[in-house]
Order: sequence, then C-alpha cells, then structure tokens
Amino acid sequence: MRRILVTGGAGFIGSNFVRMVLEEQTDCFVVNLDKLTYAGNLENLTGCMENKNHKFVKADICNAKLVESLLDEHKIDAIVNFAAESHVDRSIAEPDVFIKTNVTGTLILLKAALNKNVARFIQISTDEVYGALGPEGKFTEDTPLSPNSPYSASKAAADHLVKAFGHTWGLKYNITRCSNNYGPYQFPEKMIPLMINNALSEKELPIYGDGLYVRDWLYVYDHCTAVWKVLTEAQPGEIFNIGGNNEKTNMEVVNLILHRLGKSQSLIKHVTDRPGHDRRYAIDSGKIISRLNWRPSVTFEQGINKTIDWYLENRDWLDHVVSGRYQNYYESMYGNR
Ligand code: NAD
Ligand code: TYD
Repeated sequence: MRRILVTGGAGFIGSNFVRMVLEEQTDCFVVNLDKLTYAGNLENLTGCMENKNHKFVKADICNAKLVESLLDEHKIDAIVNFAAESHVDRSIAEPDVFIKTNVTGTLILLKAALNKNVARFIQISTDEVYGALGPEGKFTEDTPLSPNSPYSASKAAADHLVKAFGHTWGLKYNITRCSNNYGPYQFPEKMIPLMINNALSEKELPIYGDGLYVRDWLYVYDHCTAVWKVLTEAQPGEIFNIGGNNEKTNMEVVNLILHRLGKSQSLIKHVTDRPGHDRRYAIDSGKIISRLNWRPSVTFEQGINKTIDWYLENRDWLDHVVSGRYQNYYESMYGNR
C-alpha cells in the first residue's frame, strides 16, 4: 500500500486531491496535515473523514517534531505539499505569513523528508513563479523564475529550496507549476467563486483595472490527476508545467458567469487595480502531455458549468464560509476600492 502525507489537504486543491485519491486509489493511505487557517475547512472533506484510508491531523507544517513523528508513525513514502498561503491580495496586505508557511514551512518538510528517507517529495508550485507575459508566448519549464508578488516570490523561494535539497543531498523530488484552478470548494477570495457569490447575492462584481488581464484556467480535478501522474510516474528531479490551454480575460470569465446565472452586466464595477498586477499567464503543458500522457478531462465551458452548478447546489457551504470573518476581510479588501 502507498502511504502519503498530504499537507494543506483541507484547502481548495488539497481537499479535491484527497477526495480523488480516496475514491480512485483504494491501495493508498493518506495522512492529511492541515493547520486549518481561514482557508482550511473540514467541510471541504465531507465524505472523506470516515474513510479508513484517511487520517486528518490538525497541525502546522512548521512543527518539525510533529511532522517527523507522523513520517515515522505512518511509514510515509511520499509527501505532497499543497500547504501554503495562496492569495496574492493577502500577500500584498500582509506578506510575513507567506514567508513563514511557504518558505520556512517547506524547508521544515524538506528536512524531515531527508531525515526520514521519504522516497519522493512533490512540491505543488504555481505558474506565477515565472512572472508575467506580454501578449505572446507561454511559460515553459525552462522559463527563468521572475516572481512579482510576495506570494509568487515565496513560492519561487520554496522551489529553489526543493531543487537545492535534490542537488545537495539527493532528495528525490518533483515540482509542479500549475495555472489558475477553479472548481468546487474554492474559497471566495479568488476571482471565480467571489464573482459567483457576489452575483448570487446581487452584489457588485469588483473587476480590477480594465479587466483585460489574462489567466489560463484549469478545472481543479484535472490539476489533481496531473499531480497523481507526477507522483506515480515521473522521474525524480523533473519539473512539470500544468495548464488547461484556456486563456481568458477576466471580463470574459465574469460575463460568462453573469450570463449563466441570468444576472445583469450592470453588476460589474471596475475598481482600483491590484498593485503590480501580472498582465498575462499562459502555460505550455507540452512536457506533461508527451511524457506522462496527461490530458485535462473537461473544456473550460464544461468546467465552469460544473463549478457554477456546484456553488448553486452547495449554498450551505458558501453561506458558512462567507459569514463571520469573511465579512471583515471583504470590507478591508474592497471597502475603499
Ligand atoms: P488554499 O488557500 O485553498 O489552501 C491552503 C491550505 O493550506 C489550507 O487548508 C490551509 O489551512 C493550509 N495551510 C496554510 N498554512 C499552513 C501551515 N502553516 N501548516 C499546515 N497547513 C497550512 O490553497 P489552494 O488554492 O488549495 O492551493 C494549494 C496549493 O496549490 C498552494 O501551494 C498553491 O500555491 C498552489 N497553487 C494554487 C493555484 C490556484 O489557482 N489556487 C494554482 C497553482 C498552484
Ligand atoms: P485570483 O483569483 O486572485 O488569482 P491570481 O491573482 O493568483 O491569478 O485573480 C485572478 C484574476 O482576477 C487576476 O487577474 C485578478 C483578478 N481579480 C479581479 O479582477 N477582482 C477580484 O476581486 C479578484 C479576487 C481578482
């Protein structure tokens, strides 16, 4: 039986990954370590908590002793590190915790992996480490790292540390760099769920600047299948870009959401831009397609419809996450924009 430690498995992508593994890989035991920050939510793991192949541990990846004891106790043979502070706007407001979790936390996991002879370390990184593109071209795995936000700088620092552990001590690792994800259980601070939530409650949809920023959207399940392929099939030391080949401007995405929900475009409000906003991301996924035979399972149109349906069918989940502290967050981010 494969035995993996997934960190950040109560967040958006991590919980989708844990659910996929439990449903599709019956010979895999998952220890799920998550601090349950504002972004971590046990309601994301509905249906997984009772599974005998899943053990949830509420803890910080910066707790070296606890991480090492989990590796020993459960004889872990791979770590998949999703745990992170993940929102660019928050990193601009308060960068410190991004360094603590994304850089120091990754360092602690790497040291533990080395001490305990963990066979593979998968670092879940992002296309944002490459910086921004102009109107042409795509990021390849050879594009130099040139991060622009405190978030992407912290992720790039972690990528360098992972590579350094491989180079210096022979740690067997892979790094995945994925484009923007969307789908079930995404916290409504990120664009797509925030716009769905605002449209559903007839609130203004805050578009930063001219709204012509481009992202390459990937349905979260397809990111998860790519990570599983990397974990189980890739040679150590390889880096893989993962993208959906779905470049869209923010205006296109928001108009699609409004159309699908039958809401008026008059809800759109152009607000003060994000400082240092990256203009365009686009991913060349040629390597993972040709080497690991990975393909996305849905088009953007199918994925966004599934996502909107999910938010419509899970109003309780949405109501829970947008109550309480979320209101203060929303006011502090958007109150003066
Ligand atoms: P998320 O913010 O939804 O979830 C992060 C999870 O990590 C939460 O459950 C949180 O509680 C946990 N966490 C945070 N700090 C922790 C700590 N110190 N110790 C233990 N757990 C901690 O993030 P996400 O969108 O699911 O992203 C997951 C990973 O994928 C991140 O590493 C992110 O950089 C990367 N990524 C995200 C996207 C995207 O579009 N969301 C795209 C590419 C890569
Ligand atoms: P986001 O979901 O924060 O992801 P990232 O910044 O990591 O790509 O933002 C996606 C795009 O949407 C980005 O160009 C910023 C823009 N955006 C808005 O226009 N309004 C918003 O309220 C948010 C959260 C994002």
